[in-house]
Formats: sequence, structure tokens, C-alpha cells
Amino acid sequence: MSYADMYQAWKADPEGFWMQAARAIEWHRFPSRALFDENAPLYEWFNDGLVNTCWNAVDRHVENGRGDQVALIHDSPVTHSTHEITFAELRDRVASLAGALRAKGVEKGDRVIIYMPMVPEAIEAMLACARLGAIHSVVFGGFAAHELAVRIDDARPKAIIAASCGIEPGRVVHYKPLLDGALAQSSHQPDFCVIFQREQEVAQLEDGRDYDWHGFQYGVAPAECVPVEGNHPVYILYTSGTTGQPKGVVRPTGGHLVALNWTMKNIFNVDPGEVFWAASDVGWVVGHSYIAYAPLIHGNTSVVFEGKPVGTPDAGTFWRVIRDHNVRSFFTAPTAFRAIKREDPKGEFVKKYDLSCLRVLYLAGERADPDTIHWAQDQFKVPVIDHWWQTETGWPITAIPMGLERMPVKIGSSGVPMPGYDVQILDDSGKPVGPDTLGAVAVKLPLPPGTLPTLWNAEDRFRKSYLDHFPGYYETGDAGHIDEDGYLYIMARTDDVINVAGHRLSTGGMEEVLANHPDVAECAVIGVADELKGNLPLGFICLTKGVNRPHEEITRECVAMIRDQIGPVAAFKLACVVDRLPKTRSGKILRATMVRIANGEDFKMPATIDDPAILDEIADALKELGYPVGR
Ligand code: COA
Ligand code: AMP
Repeated sequence: MSYADMYQAWKADPEGFWMQAARAIEWHRFPSRALFDENAPLYEWFNDGLVNTCWNAVDRHVENGRGDQVALIHDSPVTHSTHEITFAELRDRVASLAGALRAKGVEKGDRVIIYMPMVPEAIEAMLACARLGAIHSVVFGGFAAHELAVRIDDARPKAIIAASCGIEPGRVVHYKPLLDGALAQSSHQPDFCVIFQREQEVAQLEDGRDYDWHGFQYGVAPAECVPVEGNHPVYILYTSGTTGQPKGVVRPTGGHLVALNWTMKNIFNVDPGEVFWAASDVGWVVGHSYIAYAPLIHGNTSVVFEGKPVGTPDAGTFWRVIRDHNVRSFFTAPTAFRAIKREDPKGEFVKKYDLSCLRVLYLAGERADPDTIHWAQDQFKVPVIDHWWQTETGWPITAIPMGLERMPVKIGSSGVPMPGYDVQILDDSGKPVGPDTLGAVAVKLPLPPGTLPTLWNAEDRFRKSYLDHFPGYYETGDAGHIDEDGYLYIMARTDDVINVAGHRLSTGGMEEVLANHPDVAECAVIGVADELKGNLPLGFICLTKGVNRPHEEITRECVAMIRDQIGPVAAFKLACVVDRLPKTRSGKILRATMVRIANGEDFKMPATIDDPAILDEIADALKELGYPVGR
């Protein structure tokens, strides 16, 4: 079937399309229908079906003869080890962990926070929760204790599962002390914590609250899979919005299973039994969907990689992993390729490895710049597919469906809409615009199965953030255009979210931290272009009247505050003191204009600007930081 036929088939009969896709999943009770639109514009899918995620990701493959197939390959250059787990082993390990959680009182609907590095136990913990119908929320290890505390207070978990440590090149990340720090800050306290002790750093356990991962499973009966309703949340994943309070994206069980399974062949072109690798982290949506769930649901082997594209030990690591494990489809962020290209521009490392197993390379998470795509195409001689999606959707909105049809790739475009997504470009008044016209990228409601039905405990915020601005549409927060052939081009965010090395961060959240510095009267954080990471945050600080300490001292403290409160992943290293911030007459800070100046781009003087002279002061401050400022 061609892409056009598939997309048309969905448009003509969405209900039939998704009911058919649902047949690839094993249900305890098959749903009577796909879409539940009684509460429109809030939509849900497969509500009256009964199903279990862990059963579909693990047990059913053992029942169907895949027990000896490797499910997870842990390839960890930072610990110099590789380890394989078969589907049969995975089932036993997950059933045992789930049994121990159940014995301590974890039940369907309880939340469990998981704070772990890239070890297979992180995925086992996710699956153990899903087995019980408990709702997990994984927190990325690069976040500081404060961010973890915010998530603990919002999700109110019954249990927290953490590792003793993670390993970053050159340093150990002290997960357990970070967890203790978070619990000292949060008002909610879990009933208990489970700590997976790693030999690189064994953590101290608190009597009565903390249990050892292995010890607490001793003598406990394994748990069976608990069937849950199609709209029961399988997980909550927090993502950055415009403020410091993260949004808890809710992922519903039934739609998640159906949609992810559909993508593995149609988009990512792998058959069950083949090896798939997404080089991301379980703390991000890519890790949830394409390290943990989709490959396992579809019967693929998934690589869990604990390392970096460069420096662990060199710029050839990715190619070694692809060769060693016979990877068929590989997914990473453009920033990883930029890091490799910088160290190995001529691809000397690529030549050392036989990469004939690789069929397609997928890029997402941030805009893929044409240089990086060309470089990758030249090195590997396989199609390089840019595709676009978000934490909120959980699976690609636009892509090239390589398992369906090898459509032409257009450099700079993230492909064509996948079934379920009616993507439109809207003008400020919410009217669709014609081809090649820039506007807000929106998706006509309802969103397809697997996408967020709401935000955790925050339905109002869900409506305000995504539904209210353009009634009848989901607002993606991205701006772009669609060409005559229906290919989408994502150009920028329309809000204060920035993308640093493929990591989504809130400049508003950073401003909230800086505003707490006693000497800071006012501040603005913007994302400026960076050759390696795509964006880097940069802070402008206005001091409280009468403060006359050295500016370097204050900016150093600001940098430390962000690292301490948001985490190293924010990569906030640049800040400068200015007298005033450019504003409109109504007092809105002109961040977009500041970004253009910092990026050396031409800009139009905003008609509403209060005092144009301030832009010169900003330009001077940027020049001092070494920016080739624009006019
Ligand atoms: N736990 C703890 N700290 C972490 C972390 C984790 N899981 N991940 C990153 N950090 C820390 C890093 O150690 C670093 O700290 P530092 O300031 O002390 O050096 C900081 O967060 C920034 O990390 P990172 O973004 O990895 O930058 P880097 O300069 O170390 O490496 C790249 C640059 C390009 C190699 C790296 O960003 C990368 O691999 N990017 C790809 C990201 C990716 O796959 N994203 C996919 C999302 S879909
Ligand atoms: P996240 O929720 O962390 O996956 O981030 C989603 C955001 O990352 C999107 O809204 C885009 O702004 C950006 N993004 C993701 N993929 C792409 C892509 N292929 N091209 C451009 N931007 C992307």
C-alpha cells in the first residue's frame, strides 16, 4: 500500500483504521469502538477495552515462541560491559519486581517515580509498574534534586525506584543523594523507596524507608499482568512548558500500545526479531517510546546504550554498537551527529566498521540542519529520515513511512503527516493558510490514539496550553509551513521552550530561578543558536538598585543556581548584567528580538517598543560575550 492510499484509508474511515490496527494487540477484552468523543474537545480511545502493556511487551512474546530471543541489549561503554536479556528472562525479572512492589502495597492507579540511568533495570521498573497497572513517572537523571522534588509533589508516588548512581564521562552522578535531597524538599513522601545498587557507588539506605532492589524481591511471589481499561494511564512524563512547573503528560494504555506497534513497521521499517536502537535516554519521550515500549511491543530487540556519541571512548562508538548488535534501524538526535562530525569530519571512524546491516537512519528531537543530514547521507549511504513529534504525542506526527513506501526525502522537511494527524498551518486568527506560508502548526482534533488526553491533575492547563487558542485544533507550539507536496517544515517554537542538545527546556523556568537571586531585580533568558547543541540558554540580568558587587561574581552565582536547581542538563553557562531589558510599551520583554540580535540576524524594530536605545545596550552586552550581533 502506498503512503497516499494509507493516509486516505485513515481519512475515509478513522474508526475502522484504528480498530484494525488494534487487532495487532492482545486484549483481555477487545474494545467495542475506537474513539470516545463524549467529552469533546477532550478525546479518549479504546476506553472499554481491557489490556495490559507488560503482557503485550513481554509475556505474549514468550507465549508465542520468542522466549529465547534477546529483548534488551545493555551496551555500556562507561562501565565497559555488554549484557543481554531474553524475553523469557525479562518476563521473570519483571514479574518478580512487580510481585515485590505489590507485596509492599503498590496497586493499579498508584504512581511510582523512577529515577535511574541507562540500565535495563530502568526498563524493568517501567514494565513492572505497567504489569500492575501502576502509573510510572520517569525523571531524567540530568535534573537536579529540586526538579525531582517538584515532580514528586505533583505525582504523589507511593514508591520511588532509583539507582545508587549513574555514570557520566569523568564523574559519577550521585542519584541516591539527589533523591534524598529531593525528599528533603518535597512535601509529599512515598511509602518506600527501592534502590538498585550499582558497584560503581553503593548508596546508604535509610532503615524502614529504603529497600535494596534484590533483597526486597526475595521470597516474594511473582505478579501476573493486571488488565486495565484502554484509557487507564500507563505513565506520566513531565515536560517543559512556559513556566517552572512542568506539565505532566498522561499516556493512555490502549492507544499507546496500538499506535506504537503500528509505527515500528510502517515508519521504522523493522520486522519482529530485528534489532532497533534509539540512542536517547529513558528520561525522555524518545526513550519511553523507542527504547522501552515500541520495540518490545513489536517483538524487536532494543539496545539500551549507556554512553555518549563522543568520548566513550571515541567518535566511533555508535558505529561499533550498530555493527556489534546488527542494528537495522537507528534513531538519534542531530546534535549527536554534530558532535561526531566535529571530531571526525571525514568519517575515518565510520570506515573502520562494516555497517551493511543498517537500513535507515532516523533523526528527531530538534531541527535537523541540512549540513548534518548531508554528512550522514554521505557517510552511511542509507536514507536519513527527519521526523517530528513531541512528548505530548508520543509518536511521530510527520515522517517518511519507510516500511510503507520509500518516498522522496526533502532536506529541511520533517516529512508528511502520519495517519491520525491532520496537520494544518494557521494564521494568527486561526484560519488555515496556503502552501509555503509560515504559521502556527496545529493538528485538527481529535488527536490519534496514544497521544495525551489531558495533563496530570491539570485539565484547565491542558485546555489553556493546547486547545483554547485555536478551537477545534491541538496547538503544537511549533511554527512552520507545508509545501505543495504536503511536506512539513518545522522552523521554530512559538513559545519560550528551547531545545538544548535535543533536550526540551523552559526559559521561563530558568527565569524563575534567577529571579530568586537576592541581587536580581529582573531577568530574561533566551535561547541562542549554537553549532553543537542547536540552542544554548543565555541570561540577561538587571540588578537591584544599590547592588555594587562585581558582575562576574553575580553571574557566576546565577550559573550555579540554575545548575543546582534545574540541573546540569540545562547547560546554562552564559549570563550578563545589563541596565535595562527591551520591552513593549505594555511591559512585555522582547525576547524574540533579543534572539535575532544574538544570532546575528536582521530584525525589524518592533513597532510597540518602549525605548529602542535599549537594543543597542543589549547588542553591546552580547558583543562583549563574543556574539556577532545583528541589526
Ligand atoms: N545524568 C546526569 N547528568 C547528565 C545526564 C544524565 N543522564 N545527561 C547529561 N548530563 C549532564 C552532563 O554530564 C553535562 O554536565 P557538565 O555540565 O558537568 O558537563 C550536562 O548535563 C550537559 O550534558 P549534555 O547535553 O550531554 O552535553 P555534553 O556537552 O556533555 O555532550 C553531546 C554533548 C552532544 C555529546 C550530548 O549532548 C549528546 O549526546 N546529545 C544527544 C542527546 C540526545 O540523544 N538527545 C535525545 C533526546 S531525544
Ligand atoms: P520533546 O517534547 O522533548 O520531544 O520536544 C518536542 C519539540 O522538539 C517539538 O515541539 C519541536 O519544537 C522540537 N522537535 C522535535 N523533533 C523535531 C524535528 N524533527 N524538527 C524540528 N523540531 C523538532
